[in-house]
Amino acid sequence: MTIQAGQSLFRSLKALLAGIDHPVLQQFMQSWPEERPMVRELATRPLPVLSWLEEARRNAAPEASPVVQFLCNHADELFWSQTYSIADFGEQFLDRYAWCEIVGQRGVVESDQIACGFLMLGPDTEYPRHWHAAEEIFIPLSAPSHWVRIEEGDWTRLKAMDIAHFTANQPHGLRTGNGPLVAVYFWRGGDLVQKARI
Ligand SMILES: [Fe+2]
Repeated sequence: MTIQAGQSLFRSLKALLAGIDHPVLQQFMQSWPEERPMVRELATRPLPVLSWLEEARRNAAPEASPVVQFLCNHADELFWSQTYSIADFGEQFLDRYAWCEIVGQRGVVESDQIACGFLMLGPDTEYPRHWHAAEEIFIPLSAPSHWVRIEEGDWTRLKAMDIAHFTANQPHGLRTGNGPLVAVYFWRGGDLVQKARI
């Protein structure tokens, strides 16, 4: 990831999140780190799911549009990664899933309090039930509808800019409909580089 692209995303992601009136999210934002000159440069790693980024950009919520546009313009300069393997969720999932961390132990700007970045899923994709020690806020930036399921509950529709909150170790799953998803994930506490349990 180039330093310039990382810094721009760091600033625009902060501006987006700071503008959302949500009490738990604003608690998380209190741990947002200062932008330090020790920005890290990470190797670029394009992944197949990025082929849906343009469609996600067309469906971005207006307030998220600048951030998603930037992701689109600089996708090849960012460090996209995957936590799971084919053995976990199969090959099709890996073709339709990636994340890019901006803040955190694997991010552009280091933090040991929070981890925050972008998650992408392709259309018709289920991110099966998983859980982790970190508390999480999850915000889809793109329409159309996506769904979230907490513990054994029903699938609940999530529109762009809706906020889902998962407590520490609370199982949750996600799925997309006929359009791709670009979302913000925001972790606080716990092991910030944990591979979620499935
Ligand atoms: Fe999660």
